[in-house]
Amino acid sequence: MRQSSLLHSSNTMQRGLHVAIIMDGNGRWAAARGLPRTAGHRVGAEAVRRTIQGAIASGITTLTLYAFSTDNWKRPVAEVNELMRLFRLHLLKEARQCTKQGIRLTIIGRRDRLPSAVRMAMEAAEALTRRGDKLHLRIAIDYSAREAILQTIGKITAPLSREEFSALLNSDTPVSEVDLLIRTSGEQRLSDFLLWESAYAELYFTKVLWPDFGQQDLLVALNAYHARDRRFGSIQAAEAA
Ligand code: IPE
Ligand code: IPE
Ligand code: MG
Repeated sequence: MRQSSLLHSSNTMQRGLHVAIIMDGNGRWAAARGLPRTAGHRVGAEAVRRTIQGAIASGITTLTLYAFSTDNWKRPVAEVNELMRLFRLHLLKEARQCTKQGIRLTIIGRRDRLPSAVRMAMEAAEALTRRGDKLHLRIAIDYSAREAILQTIGKITAPLSREEFSALLNSDTPVSEVDLLIRTSGEQRLSDFLLWESAYAELYFTKVLWPDFGQQDLLVALNAYHARDRRFGSIQAAEAA
């Protein structure tokens, strides 16, 4: 193995991998079956459960899931309402299971525009799972990376290094940079997700629609990740010698 990847793998071994997923394709999954888009969101929740189990089994230590973007408020109100209902339902339902498995759950994104019942379920789930030390599960709801960056810029009072800016950006719960960013459904764009934290993330796009995504798909993505050569701007050790 090349030195740069050796160095990197020993580094990520200690802290484990940060995997981020843009869970896309629920609407198309439903449309292909003649179902309303909301049916895709309901079945997509099952894929979330499978992915969390797969993440624990494969030693991922941070998993960030994009559930609702700030731009998703542009969708029909009935679809937004159903998504909010699902967030609340699953937060209430899964929090206890998370504590049993050592999962710490935190939510990233704006909270002030969410229905108060959703906000309360989030706060309860975060409080209940705060001691989890096996997997840090972050769900992005009403999230925009550009908004998060702008908010952080507003807090700056003196010149900052990149590391200090990273710490300020995720000051509530410190988090490592994204190692692997997966997007399902064949789209190849970031849609305002973790723009700062993914500066050197390996990008992995799959045509699988989110409701069909399973542990095997996660493993395939992880294998692709491990076959990549992450150089971080440097050159391969062999070339340097
Ligand atoms: C992702 O699936 C879920 C959310 C954005 C909430 P979509 O709802 O975007 O599904 P497509 O892209 O329309 O198929
Ligand atoms: C991004 O998906 C947001 C989530 C997956 C939650 P979208 O389906 O909203 O993104 P675009 O509109 O295709 O870029
Ligand atoms: Mg989509």
